Amino acid sequence: MNTLDRAVIAAGFDVERVRADFPVLNQTIHGKPLVYLDNAATAQKPRAVIDAIVKFYEVDCANIHRGVHELSQRSTAAYEETRAKVRRFLNARHKQEIIFVRGTTEGINLVTQTWGRTHLKQGDEIIIAGLEHHSNIVPWQFVCEETGARLRVIPIDERGELILEEYEKLLGPHTRMVAIGHVSNALGTINPVARIIRMAHAAGALTLVDGAQAVPHMPVDLQALDADFYAFSGHKLYGPTGIGVLYGKTELLDAMPPYQGGGDMIRTVTFEKTTYNDLPYKFEAGTPDIAGGIGLGAAVDYVTRLGIDKIGAYEHELLLYATEALEQIPGLRIIGTAREKAAVLSFVMEGIHPHDIGTVLDHQGIAVRTGHHCAQPVMDRYHIPATTRASLAFYNTAAEIDALVAGLYKVKEVFGDD
Ligand code: ALA
Repeated sequence: MNTLDRAVIAAGFDVERVRADFPVLNQTIHGKPLVYLDNAATAQKPRAVIDAIVKFYEVDCANIHRGVHELSQRSTAAYEETRAKVRRFLNARHKQEIIFVRGTTEGINLVTQTWGRTHLKQGDEIIIAGLEHHSNIVPWQFVCEETGARLRVIPIDERGELILEEYEKLLGPHTRMVAIGHVSNALGTINPVARIIRMAHAAGALTLVDGAQAVPHMPVDLQALDADFYAFSGHKLYGPTGIGVLYGKTELLDAMPPYQGGGDMIRTVTFEKTTYNDLPYKFEAGTPDIAGGIGLGAAVDYVTRLGIDKIGAYEHELLLYATEALEQIPGLRIIGTAREKAAVLSFVMEGIHPHDIGTVLDHQGIAVRTGHHCAQPVMDRYHIPATTRASLAFYNTAAEIDALVAGLYKVKEVFGDD
């Protein structure tokens, strides 16, 4: 066992015990033990999440909010319980502020298509950052095209940190919204969102935070942050795919038109006029991903049991260990060296294309992501087409980092650099 692994067990985080909760980790790929380092793309699911989904389909399956029968009551209770769990987990003020969506992408699109279309006009400005994932760029571009509003971008420095002096200059009387990623998926930079939000509010603008890469890795307190909207995805939080959350402040959500029309989002319908349901149902048309919602509840329980603080602390140790190890590899350059970083390691290797790195690593059983990571402007900023990205989770070990390092030396060997 590695010294780091021993140290963290001593600190109360037994990674081997945690790993046993994740069935998928226990397999070989191309004859080698799986080393899963693609957690920013999607995280693996603990047995408790899988069991909750199976139980829904085997025992409780029924549509929700619609039946007086026992199964519908059970399904509704379990689904709505997740809303309460998410509220507690993120310290939102009210349960009705938790809107279930497909994921972060849909959450942002919901805001741009409802709040954006009704509030933006020619000359208004939306500020985003040079670190954004495409899902926090393209929906704003759509609504800018429709309304005549303009997108402004906070530049990043060489480390991958936002240049806050430039942000301050961008803020002004035309700023309506500051939409910002909490943690960069491509580089791992943790943005100072509390400060960014305070500055936006002082300028009279609203704020939206893309929390997809933050919620699984650090405590998030929505009341303390005071974000007006905050979105995250269940599947990166060890929950199922197809379910996520948009948080919004009650007064804003109340004033927004619905997103989609259909069942459950209405109070009364006649051919002449439809009135809408209360929050949160006004934004939840049609039969939702019930199993996904219940699975997300199990994921929140699981992460809460482990302790999000402990998860963050362990992943930080792993990040330091991995950063030091990767820095020793000749010809390897880490892209994104922010002082506040989540456990993401993006890197390039001299003369070797990231896709080739990914393929050789895969043959060693090591799963990483290669490409632009849905953040092409970040790649443009560094004048590179792509990186290789190892993104860590609390079930990764120092021994797996050692395997990654060995795999990268193998890459160098295959491509004739040694
Ligand atoms: N946004 C996900 C990633 O960073 C898919 O890989």
